[in-house]
Amino acid sequence: MVIVYRSNTGFTRQYAEMLGKAEKMKAFTIAEAGDRVPAGEEVLYMGPLMAGHIAGIDQAVKKFNLKGVCGVGMSPASQHTMDSITRANYIPEGVPLFYLQGGWAPKKVGWLKRRMVNMVTRSTRETLRAKGSSRSPEEDRYLDFLLHGGSFVAFENLGEIRAWMREQQ
Ligand SMILES: Cc1cc2nc3c(=O)[nH]c(=O)nc-3n(C[C@H](O)[C@H](O)[C@H](O)COP(=O)(O)O)c2cc1C
Repeated sequence: MVIVYRSNTGFTRQYAEMLGKAEKMKAFTIAEAGDRVPAGEEVLYMGPLMAGHIAGIDQAVKKFNLKGVCGVGMSPASQHTMDSITRANYIPEGVPLFYLQGGWAPKKVGWLKRRMVNMVTRSTRETLRAKGSSRSPEEDRYLDFLLHGGSFVAFENLGEIRAWMREQQ
């Protein structure tokens, strides 16, 4: 199995490279995979969430033998996140889905995309702002993240996906 990924602002790339290094697996961008990963190869596909859709997944489903899929988004991991990704993406039956919290890089995306994201996060920002000094340190951090960007990429988040990979061997 190899890792194939797509990344617009670098967070999915960080996870793909970390995972590849930890599990001694090769990681290719979807563009590199074009002539380096043959069709039908066993692949873990990783891609950033864009309005609930895992970018690049349809291409990966068509070309490879998908063994697992991992979405990387800015929201904290939760059952709600998993359910909405499951609903919004065509993931072949029996293929496990993983989710990793990546980051948010407002300066690396165009104004229209930044605006789209800001619209979606508005109510969360307003709720957190309204809490004022009763915000917990985590809530403070999350509000700052939504306003200015930041990263939640951490090696520790890879535990579940690494355990699954080991079962595949
Ligand atoms: C237009 C747009 C839509 C997005 N939609 C979602 C989303 O639905 N859910 C989510 O958790 N994150 C969403 N994000 C945030 C990205 O998924 C997040 O920043 C991710 O870490 C980007 O990964 P990358 O750096 O590999 O491109 C969106 C970002 C953009 C620019």
